[in-house]
This record gives sequence, C-alpha cells and structure tokens, in this order.
Amino acid sequence: MTNSNRSVLLLSGPNLNLLGEREPEIYGSQSLEDHVQAALQQAQACGLKLIHLQSNAEAELVEAIQQARGCHDAIVINAGALTHYAWSLHDALATFDGPVLELHLSNPNAREPWRHTSVIAPVADGSIAGFGGYGYKLAIQAVAELLSDTPQSDSYDT
Ligand code: DQA
Repeated sequence: MTNSNRSVLLLSGPNLNLLGEREPEIYGSQSLEDHVQAALQQAQACGLKLIHLQSNAEAELVEAIQQARGCHDAIVINAGALTHYAWSLHDALATFDGPVLELHLSNPNAREPWRHTSVIAPVADGSIAGFGGYGYKLAIQAVAELLSDTPQSDSYDT
C-alpha cells in the first residue's frame, strides 16, 4: 500500500531549539534544523509529507496535537523534559487515532531517575531513544511501516 498523501506531524518540545549548543556531549553537535532535514529527506523517500513544529510551551504542543486530528496521519514527538510529567500531552495524544512514535536523542532510561518515567510511552505505539540524530530517520521509517499497514482514509488527504 502506498503512503503517498499521508502526512506526519513531527513535534519538538522545550529546549530542543537549542540543540547543537545545548549539552553537546549528550545531545550531539547537530542543530534541530539538521534533524528536521534528515526527517524530511526520509519522509520524502517514504512518500510521506512532513510538518514540523517546535515549541517551548506545553499548551502550544497540546493545541498542535488536537489540530492534528483529521489532518495528519501520524505523530512523531520528542517532547523534551515534558516527556516526564506533562499529562496534558498524554491525554491529547490519547485522542489521536493514528500511530504515535516517541523519540529521544539520548536514552533517558540510562540517565537520571526522574527521566525514567515517560507519560508519552503509554500512548505511543513505540519509542526510539538513544540513537542520536539517526533516531529521526528511524522514526520516520517506523511510522512509514506502521502507516503502510493501515487503510488510507480519504478524509486525511491534505
Ligand atoms: C530528550 C530527553 C529528555 O529527558 C530531555 O529533557 C530533553 C531531550 C532527548 O531527546 O534525549 O530535553 O527528549
């Protein structure tokens, strides 16, 4: 089944706008723009559209998830620190029908104990963590696989 006309929303949470400058020993030297470009390239190769939004504000991310209903087919989200406590993101994602993929550059489970809890994981189809920038490519590949297994809905065509 083709994925053409299917659309993925890539969401980036707080402080990810500082990637490249922020703790490069943990998050690497690439900027968020570099990661988005890698995701875009992979999306194109998989026949998917990709829209990216970064916000430092929880409310804006909740709004974007709500708006994604009926207009995007899948969500890839690196919620940054909101991953660990933002139940409003959990609840918003629970209302989304398509595949949801949790993404992290680092491996939060190998870091401080407070990072071991994810409120996103229970409403995600799967998580990709610890592969650095390569995770963006892997996330889009995973989403393309998941979408190719689900029937295409005309109402999602944009
Ligand atoms: C992160 C991991 C989070 O614990 C952290 O707060 C971030 C980035 C990651 O991509 O590794 O901001 O989501």
